[in-house]
Amino acid sequence: FHVDWDLVTAEKAGFDHFMLKEIYEQPKAYRDTMGARLNDEGTRVVLPELKMTEDDIRAIRNIHIVACGTAYHAGLVGKSVIEKLARIPVETDVASEYRYRSPIIGKDTLVIVVSQSGETADTLAALREAQRCGARVLAITNVVGSSVAREADDVITTWAGPEIAVASTKAYTSQLIAFYLLGIYMAQVLGTQEDAAVAELLTAMQALPGQVEAILEQSEVLKAFAESIAKHDNLFFIGRGLDYAVAVEGSLKLKEISYIHSEAYAAGELKHGTLALIEEGIPVIALATQEELFEKTASNIKEVKARGAHVLGVVNEDELDLRKSVDEIFAIPKTMALLAPALAVVPLQLLSYYASLARGNDVDKPRNLAKSVTVE
Ligand code: G6P
Repeated sequence: FHVDWDLVTAEKAGFDHFMLKEIYEQPKAYRDTMGARLNDEGTRVVLPELKMTEDDIRAIRNIHIVACGTAYHAGLVGKSVIEKLARIPVETDVASEYRYRSPIIGKDTLVIVVSQSGETADTLAALREAQRCGARVLAITNVVGSSVAREADDVITTWAGPEIAVASTKAYTSQLIAFYLLGIYMAQVLGTQEDAAVAELLTAMQALPGQVEAILEQSEVLKAFAESIAKHDNLFFIGRGLDYAVAVEGSLKLKEISYIHSEAYAAGELKHGTLALIEEGIPVIALATQEELFEKTASNIKEVKARGAHVLGVVNEDELDLRKSVDEIFAIPKTMALLAPALAVVPLQLLSYYASLARGNDVDKPRNLAKSVTVE
């Protein structure tokens, strides 16, 4: 009697790849990151780990979010979340650009660095530069005791657990949860949202893990579409508002592991150039989860369809009318528009995973990439 066993297989816990395991760990990562950060009634955010006082928050005039790669994409969502909830102006920048552009930083600037590993060289350098200029730095990181965690003035830990696959999934979505918590907390301090609105958001947030589970149950639906896009060398992601921020992350995920070239475009910008590249059969992944922008995105979908694109629509379950205008549809459970990125990214992660598999790539260790980039 012989049993094949090795440590790596055991760590994958029955999944073929770490990436798939980590995608499936997201409901737990959401719950753990929200964890003890809600009051007993689940109606208010509490962040006892912050050294920043309420007066410090009242003194913030602007926020810079700085990060690399997928963490930068979480920062794009974070910008909208904080601006909408707390009404503080936010800029998001990639760390390797930020540190060399003499950013205008003062004592009333809060710099938020986002880093799964907490060891990315450019992010760490940006943190040091911000502190040198007198800013307070808050880190959102997944690794307790990492360089970023040790040097920042404040830390919000994402409790995603170890992420092994190079392509980040559960760390990204946990960073989104951290931004929601921070945005709500700031809104509570600044009084920019009604108590009832905060409670409604938190109720919706607590439903997210179950909703991600519902999406994961439909993962097979995405396999066929992934196999069809695996035959292409180019494709597009389009979306508006928060859907655009998610599109950018979906596009990166696909590039990283399937090596298919893709571009994410703000759907309203298509007509200023990209539309020239839309030809018969080209796949377009269109995100349309934002109610206020739905009609506008739907008309952009018609523009690409009219030029022969093969469109996958990612929509809310109550917008299935779009079925007539697209070739394939993936419905995500209904949530509040601000929270939709935490659901809409999941089908895009699965799509990249299956496209990478269909192309016979090494999903967990894509060529030329490293999990943590500690050189400049
Ligand atoms: C590398 C990884 C990416 C990651 C980026 C930032 O490029 O391959 O997945 O998003 O670094 O990493 P960090 O640990 O700072 O979030």
